[in-house]
Amino acid sequence: MEKLIIKGGRRLAGEIRVSGAKNSALPILASSLLSQGPLRIGNLPHLHDITTTMELLGQMGLTLTVGDNLEVEVDSATISQFLAPYELVKTMRASILVLGPLLARFGKAEVSLPGGCAIGTRPVDMHLQALAAMGAKIEVEGGYIRATASGLKGADIVFDAVTVTGTENLLMAACLADGVTTLTNAAKEPEVVDLANCLRSMGAIISGEGTNVIQIQGVKSLKGTSYNILPDRIETGTYLTAVAMTGGRVKLKDTRPDLLGAVLTKLEEAGAVVSTGDDWIELEMDPADLKAVNIQTGPYPRFPTDMQAQFTALNCIAGGTGAIQESVFENRFMHVQELRRMGADVRVEGNIVFTSGVEKLTGAPLMATDLRASASLVLAGLVGCGETIVDRIYHIDRGYETIEEKLTNLGADIRRVPR
Ligand code: EPZ
Repeated sequence: MEKLIIKGGRRLAGEIRVSGAKNSALPILASSLLSQGPLRIGNLPHLHDITTTMELLGQMGLTLTVGDNLEVEVDSATISQFLAPYELVKTMRASILVLGPLLARFGKAEVSLPGGCAIGTRPVDMHLQALAAMGAKIEVEGGYIRATASGLKGADIVFDAVTVTGTENLLMAACLADGVTTLTNAAKEPEVVDLANCLRSMGAIISGEGTNVIQIQGVKSLKGTSYNILPDRIETGTYLTAVAMTGGRVKLKDTRPDLLGAVLTKLEEAGAVVSTGDDWIELEMDPADLKAVNIQTGPYPRFPTDMQAQFTALNCIAGGTGAIQESVFENRFMHVQELRRMGADVRVEGNIVFTSGVEKLTGAPLMATDLRASASLVLAGLVGCGETIVDRIYHIDRGYETIEEKLTNLGADIRRVPR
C-alpha cells in the first residue's frame, strides 16, 4: 500500500487553493438520479470517494461525461439497474445516498447496508424509518436494503438525532413526493444547504434549509441544471490547523470563511492570527504562542467532529493541557494510539481526549485508519522530529485531493511512495 513519508520541522508558507467539498459532491452526484435532464456539476474534487460514486452511478447505467476543469455531466435517462452492490458500498458508506432518489424517481432500490467503519457502527435506521413514513416498503435481509414505493407521500418527519446524510436522503426523496414533507431536527450543515440549492435549481420547492426545520413541496419532475460545489470547509480547517502547528503564514483561496466560525474561533484561542476575506483565509502563527484548547464537537454550527482528530494532534504539541469531547461518534479516537507512538501525552477517558503538551513529537511509522485520523497523523508528522511514515493512505485519498502536492507547495518535506 502507498505510504506518505514526512520529514518534520519545517514552517509552512505560501498559498494554496481549496478544493470542492467532498460531503457536498456526494449527495449532489446522487441527486442526478432525480432529474429528467442531465446534471452538470462543477468544482468537483478529485477524490477517491467521488470516483467511487461515479463508478456506482455508471454501474447503474447512467451516462457520465467528464469534462475538463473538474466538471462532470450525469444523465440518468439511460439508467438500467437500481442496485448499489456491497462491493462498492463497503468502500464508501455514503452510497446510501442513492436510496432516497431511487425510491422517489423509480419506486425501487436495492442498496447494500453500509457496514460500520473505524469511527463507529454508523447505522442508517433513521433514514429507513423516515422513508417508511413516506410510504416506502422496506425490507432488510442478507445485508441488503430492498425498498419499493408506488409514489412517496409527503410526511411530517422528526429525526431522533441530527443526521447529515439522513437529512440529505429525505430532502432528495421529498422533492418528488406527493404533497408536503417537513423535516424537523434536520441537519444544518453547509453541505445540506448546498444540496438544497442544487435541487432548487432543478425546480424543487424547498424552504428552511440551514435551519432545523426544512419544508419540501413535492413536484412532478425535476429538470437538468448546472451547479458548482461549494468549497471544502474541512479541507480548509485541516490546512489551517497544519500551519497553526508548524508555525508560518499561509493563505487559503477559493474557500468560505463564513462556514468555519467555530474552527476559526478555536484557532485564534490556540494563538493563531487569522484574517479573512469573502473567499480567502490567512493564518499566521508563531509556534511559541501555541496553546492547547478545550473543545466539544457537535452538529453544525458547533465545532465539527471532522476536525476533532486534527485538533487532538494540535493539542499534543501545544502549551498546557487540553480536553476534546467527541459527542457525535462513539469511537473516533483511532488516531490517539498512533500519536502516542510519537511520544504524545494523550489519553481517552469515556468520550474525552485529554492531552498535555510535550516539547516535541518524534517521527515514527504510523497506520492510518480513517479519513480524518490519517489527516491528523500527517499533521503530527509535519512537526515530528525526524521521519514519519503514514501507511494505508488510501484513507487520506478519500477526502484530500493531492495532499502531498498541496503541502509541498507550502514548503513541507513530504513524498508519496508506493507500497
Ligand atoms: C456525515 O456522515 C459526513 N459524511 C461525515 O463525514 C461526518 O463526520 C458526519 O456527517 C457528521 O458531521 C458525509 O456527509 C458523506 P450522521 P453521516 O448521520 O451522515 C448516528 C468525513 O470525514 N446515526 O450525521 O453518516 C451516527 O451513528 C465523514 O468526511 C444513527 O444512529 O453522519 C452518528 O453517531 C466521516 N442512525 C450520528 O448519528 C442513523 O440513521 C451522526 O451521524 C444515522 C446516523
